[in-house]
Amino acid sequence: MWPLQSAILLVGAIFIYAANPWRKKVPSYKGEGTFSFLGDALDYAMRPVDLVTKATAQCGSIFSLQILTVYTVWLRGNALNKIYLETREDVWSFTGGMGIFLNKIIDSGYWNHYKTLLSSLSKYVNRSAAQQYTLAVSVEETQKAAAEWQMQEDLPLFGSISFLVHKIIVRTLMGQDFYESNMRELVDLLHAMEADIGSLFSFVLPDWVPHPPARRLKRARQRVKEIFLERLHQREVIGTESSRTLPDYIAFTMEDKSTAPLSDLMPSHHTLLMFAAHTSTAASISWSLISLMRHPEMLKRVTAELRGHPDEDSLLLQACIKESSRLYSGFQMLRLARKEVVIPTTKISVPKGAIVSISPYSTHHDPANFPNPEEWDPERWITDSGDLVLIDNRSEAGAKFIPFGAGCHRCVGEKMANIMVSKTLASLLRDYDVEWASPDVPRVTDFSALDFGKIGSPWLKGDVGIRVMKV
Ligand code: HEM
Repeated sequence: MWPLQSAILLVGAIFIYAANPWRKKVPSYKGEGTFSFLGDALDYAMRPVDLVTKATAQCGSIFSLQILTVYTVWLRGNALNKIYLETREDVWSFTGGMGIFLNKIIDSGYWNHYKTLLSSLSKYVNRSAAQQYTLAVSVEETQKAAAEWQMQEDLPLFGSISFLVHKIIVRTLMGQDFYESNMRELVDLLHAMEADIGSLFSFVLPDWVPHPPARRLKRARQRVKEIFLERLHQREVIGTESSRTLPDYIAFTMEDKSTAPLSDLMPSHHTLLMFAAHTSTAASISWSLISLMRHPEMLKRVTAELRGHPDEDSLLLQACIKESSRLYSGFQMLRLARKEVVIPTTKISVPKGAIVSISPYSTHHDPANFPNPEEWDPERWITDSGDLVLIDNRSEAGAKFIPFGAGCHRCVGEKMANIMVSKTLASLLRDYDVEWASPDVPRVTDFSALDFGKIGSPWLKGDVGIRVMKV
């Protein structure tokens, strides 16, 4: 009797589980051909926008992509963007997602103190003293850089802006001492780490596999640590009193009770910040300049506004920056699913262990969100009453403009980024004319060749040459 009852119960349980009306698997994208898994991995590395567009057409707004060993789940559309961005860390983890790239270059204990360190950054960035400092450094570094640039006939735009942004970030976040002693080495380390982190090996192989990029990343991480040890030791030698008056973020963390005991984590924290702060800021400045140069009438209007009112911010420039950040935003966000979860309003269950993603880039290129999405049209951001258009991602309509993210992990550096981008552009365009390095540059350059291999906004593949001339 008992075995029969147990068997009936077991069959019943299996039946209920299998027929569960509220639990469906994520539809999986099927590529073409026997070796489609290789083609998908290649597309993911080389043409991610096309791959995600094809998968959306085949499967709808929720689908999975198997990228070699990594199972990724994609959510498409404004409503799902909002759900994604508001999902808690213990369900879909930002640190778990970023860890796929960053764990090889930061200390294992770092994530345990991440919230504390992030909150100190947010406090620093929101202080008016820090904002004034960022502004002054941005203007000063731009003027110094532009004075050198005007000697060059063919200036690589992304390369030059990237170096400028790096200098501003090192001076502001790390301090004058890092700037004077280690700025050049840090930029080389940053680019070397960026190249290895973006490799497919780093994405698909576990952290403990010692493939060549992983070995190089380990060496880079050790060197960053040495640099920090040396500089922080020097600050101790100089004395707390004089360190206290420094305007940089490191001095702030050393003063803040919650972060003062965490000085050992500073190399990891600043490695993460170099990545978070550098790529997208450099992209934002470079794409704004490219877009202005491709629209000479708009460039004329912006420079006239800046030169006519040297002490004021230019609304038109703000609109150009916003429009460029729409067109050239990051392709993908990453979360690691720490729990199995059924996506609200669907019956689809995302399994634990999946990498869950949305795409800001595809959202910003959706004609339902922005009519004529491929057109660079800054005036779409100016209201009839002459204000900048603001988009509320928390509304019922969902999240449709997310260059700085939204919800739980919205960019904490946004204010600092806005100062760097707007002051760098304003100070350059006020005093310098910008031109293509040669007249045929716009004809021979493929401006649609985007490099999505970085963490953050895309750069232009192969860069582009410009010239700057003092007015
Ligand atoms: C134009 C420049 C920038 C853009 C477009 C940008 C964009 C973003 C985006 C989209 C996110 C959210 C990522 C996600 O939810 O997966 C983010 C997060 C973050 N950003 Fe930025 N960012 C910029 C500049 C900066 C700067 C200058 C800093 C540092 C001073 C910074 C520090 C961070 C940090 C620490 C996070 C993680 C926040 C968290 O974990 O809650 N970013 N950024």
